[in-house]
Amino acid sequence: MSNLSALQQLAAQLSRSMATQSAGIGRKVAILGAAGGIGQPLSMLMKMNQQVSQLSLYDIAGTPGVAADVSHVNTRAQIKGFDKDGLADALRGADVVIIPAGVPRKPGMTRDDLFKINAGIVKNLVEACGKHCPGAILNIISNPVNSTVPIAAETLKSLGVYDKRKLLGVTTLDVVRAKTFYAEKKGLDVTSVDIPVIGGHAGITILPLFSQATPKVALTAEELDALTKRTQDGGTEVVQAKAGKGSATLSMAYAAALFADSCLRGLNGQPTIECSYVESTVTEAPYFATKVKLSTEGVEKIHGLGDLSDYEKAGLKAMMPELISQIEKGIEFAKA
Ligand code: NAI
Repeated sequence: MSNLSALQQLAAQLSRSMATQSAGIGRKVAILGAAGGIGQPLSMLMKMNQQVSQLSLYDIAGTPGVAADVSHVNTRAQIKGFDKDGLADALRGADVVIIPAGVPRKPGMTRDDLFKINAGIVKNLVEACGKHCPGAILNIISNPVNSTVPIAAETLKSLGVYDKRKLLGVTTLDVVRAKTFYAEKKGLDVTSVDIPVIGGHAGITILPLFSQATPKVALTAEELDALTKRTQDGGTEVVQAKAGKGSATLSMAYAAALFADSCLRGLNGQPTIECSYVESTVTEAPYFATKVKLSTEGVEKIHGLGDLSDYEKAGLKAMMPELISQIEKGIEFAKA
């Protein structure tokens, strides 16, 4: 054996052992709606996550194919696919459950238009989570998030297993979009940009805080308004471009994978900060997205709003009636 190939073998061994060390505790993640537009790329991204040792893929249709396909990727996570009779097994022992099940928007629809179909889907799936993995952290993606998170909370309360630290609405795509649009507009390195996005996850309830952006670059009033509106309408931009074939799936899967990774890091003792839509007392709305600290029990701390510009104060005031009514709609549905 030449010296070179011995060195190559050693390097490979070292890199394998480092990968195992950095992987830490292996966690079980379940994805409900895994064969959908978001579910498929999200399944692949979670298969690539070193913190995941078991990955349950559940959907009412198409899971065997997705599970077989993703299972060939040579990473740590063991894949199991479950069809509609397998929900309990998919969930048992899960540390994190990601829920992108439901119908997406078509052109002309608002997220609220999805309510009738997705509310019932989320209620049933969360009920199963409450029964089969009551301690898991739930990441709710299914729209309208402003209502599906309160629905999930009421469902868990009725089972006596609600823990507000463990129910999180995924608004990461709004943060991802705000960062991209701001960096693009101002010619910045997007990887060094950070922008909190607060409120909810629909239209004017999405409020990016460009006054708190890092790095801070001056924006004209027109630029600020255009960036804010583009962030609020980012989903509609994709719905229109897909012309009837659904809403954001690839960027959403990326955002969901980032968010789930932060939840897993938190569980594994490496606290992280993310924006998320959670039960909150920061404003008069009982659910609200701000920065939260994720740690071993889920949300450890909910951050306040910080200093808002006059433009942002007006945006906050304007969103409240809509946000509160969407929350109430969710609560009423769950209680009915
Ligand atoms: P899709 O229609 O491509 O996939 C949805 C999947 O859910 C399908 O595979 C379907 O079989 C499955 N499903 C339906 N009922 C189910 C049930 N009872 N149990 C398990 N699986 C079930 O839709 P897509 O594009 O993946 O979007 C999914 C949801 O995510 C939509 O509600 C959409 O509005 C939402 N979304 C949320 C975003 C966010 O930022 N939070 C961004 C983009 C989409």
